[in-house]
Amino acid sequence: MKKRILTGDRPTGKLHLGHYVGSLKNRLRLQDEYIPLRPSDSADVFPHERKYEIYLLVADLHALTTKTDTSNLKQNIKDLVLDQLSVGIDPAKVTFCVQSQIPEDQELAIIFSMLVPKPRLERVPTLKEVMRDLKIETASLGLLAYPVLQAADILMVRANLVPVGKDQTSHVELTREIAQKFNSTYGKVFPLPEALVPEEIGTLPGIDGKQKMSKSLDNAIFLSDNESAVREKVMKMYTDPTRIHPTDPGHVEDNPVFIYLEAFTTSKDEKQLAEYREKYKKGEIGDIEVKEFLVKTLNEFLSPIRIRRQELEKQSGLVDEILDEGNKKASAEAQNTLKLAKEAMKLP
Ligand code: TRP
Repeated sequence: MKKRILTGDRPTGKLHLGHYVGSLKNRLRLQDEYIPLRPSDSADVFPHERKYEIYLLVADLHALTTKTDTSNLKQNIKDLVLDQLSVGIDPAKVTFCVQSQIPEDQELAIIFSMLVPKPRLERVPTLKEVMRDLKIETASLGLLAYPVLQAADILMVRANLVPVGKDQTSHVELTREIAQKFNSTYGKVFPLPEALVPEEIGTLPGIDGKQKMSKSLDNAIFLSDNESAVREKVMKMYTDPTRIHPTDPGHVEDNPVFIYLEAFTTSKDEKQLAEYREKYKKGEIGDIEVKEFLVKTLNEFLSPIRIRRQELEKQSGLVDEILDEGNKKASAEAQNTLKLAKEAMKLP
């Protein structure tokens, strides 16, 4: 049977290059994987079957766990979908859905919450991180139960694989524990899903050199930034702090400018990148020249994305249609799962 995938994002604002490297790129690859009918078959020539059935969830209820202000929520949901469409994620190949529009998800979360001891949730590492970063003194019940709702997201469609960043693996681990507990208590209903963590550069640093690109740290280049915004951000980017003059030997490791170049240079410019890398190490090229190369590289990457986004924005009602259809499909699947769960539990 086709493997099922579910992954999701909280709609907290526009997506940036860090999202592209950390998750969108992987989603693009997964949506186009197919099962060859013969070893040499190509997807364009022969009839083929897609390898995965993919659900992409907009986790709007999860967004409320850290921000109860909902004034931007509708726009953020729309932006999240538009950003994904503009990089090439295709609603004909994946199912987009919205957490709050699938009541079965929440019903399943209540059932699961009985299977999780409270101290187990207090030990989840992301909880401490979020509380520290956002200076939250006491967690709400909803924030504490965040991973339980996430388990329901994943298990409502009985997903086998969950593509996530490394920081989310503890939530997938808890999901497995919940599935196992349910199955051993009431009977086997759920698969034990696995996290699918990208091997390559998982996280892109911010333009300030901080470990992670993030909207809240104000160090992000957004997929929807225009050319001049990209230029401005790249020109003020953090590079090698040990280098004072362009003739000083420079470091390319841990240098965000080179990390971005590694991530976005296409094959036609590989040679130039290799040359710049060598020159930089020897102190034969200035930061400005390398940054000019990065501006060009990023704008080449972003240009088709910007064009597609503009075209998509012109089609009013498009996102709503995509979500309506996706919600129906995900809901039907979740209803079926809930029915199986309730039967196993002998609930009325
Ligand atoms: N917690 C995830 C994040 O912050 C978002 C998310 C919600 C998710 N539900 C999910 C991811 C289900 C994977 C599967 O990135």
